[in-house]
Amino acid sequence: MATPILETDTLTMRFGGLVAVDAVTFTAQRDDITAIIGPNGAGKTTLFNCITGFYRPTGGALRLFRDGAPVELHHLAGHRIARAGVARTFQNIRLFPGMTALENLLVAQHNTLMASTGFGIGALLGAPRYRRAQKAAIAKAVHWLEVTDLLARADDPAGALPYGQQRRLEIARAMCTDPLLLCLDEPAAGLNPRESEELSALLRMIRDGGCSILLIEHDMGVVMGISDRIVVLDHGRKIADGTPGEVRADPRVIAAYLGEGDEGEDAA
Ligand SMILES: Nc1ncnc2c1ncn2[C@@H]1O[C@H](COP(=O)(O)OP(=O)(O)OP(=O)(O)O)[C@@H](O)[C@H]1O
Ligand SMILES: [Mg+2]
Repeated sequence: MATPILETDTLTMRFGGLVAVDAVTFTAQRDDITAIIGPNGAGKTTLFNCITGFYRPTGGALRLFRDGAPVELHHLAGHRIARAGVARTFQNIRLFPGMTALENLLVAQHNTLMASTGFGIGALLGAPRYRRAQKAAIAKAVHWLEVTDLLARADDPAGALPYGQQRRLEIARAMCTDPLLLCLDEPAAGLNPRESEELSALLRMIRDGGCSILLIEHDMGVVMGISDRIVVLDHGRKIADGTPGEVRADPRVIAAYLGEGDEGEDAA
């Protein structure tokens, strides 16, 4: 019954002598929240940078499934990957701080807007198709501001928002591109417990709305609470892949998190 949304096949990313992502193979299923976890430096962000086209992988393959048909992402430039339906947020927030919250969400839809007039001058001349597209873009931005509880901050500069709100605005911005797959790099970092719970609810809602999620996160409360599957990386390699229950009980995962030499601790 499960259908894949993303598949990596022996995906590898080397930086000189360092293999940051080492022959990683996994499948993320459609309509799932798939978490990517692992200690600092495990290669999680590098994996995202390959998936979203920031880096061209040095080996292996990456496939996104659109209506069941594979799109070979490792051959595409970053902006084409975004158009294919992959959106992301960043470990370090990257909003336009001087633009308002609403403007940040409109900029995210620049491509759709320009496409409405065939990337031509129609936009400047006020072509009716462009004006309709503009209205739709504003409606979508307002929708995501509402969903992320930011409507009251619509006209405030993004840089003036508290940290938790900036994190939510980044998610709203990504969702304004109507992605098939949303990649989130540590969205709970710096959030208080209440904000983390709200984030979990938001991510469940996004998943249930038909957008699959890849989630890098260190907050195990969030990860164990909302993930359908978890992939564990350590030193660039995949060391476990399973349900939250399976991964939590896996001695290799426990050892990776506690440091070497702790594997025998639970021996009776
Ligand atoms: N552009 C780069 N050039 C050289 N080395 C890099 C580059 N990007 C990442 N690395 C290295 O690759 C390894 C994996 O880094 P990465 O940022 O992917 O880890 P991470 O799992 O996201 O860690 P964290 O949990 O701390 O964010 C690290 O050793 C890092 O120093
Ligand atoms: Mg990282």
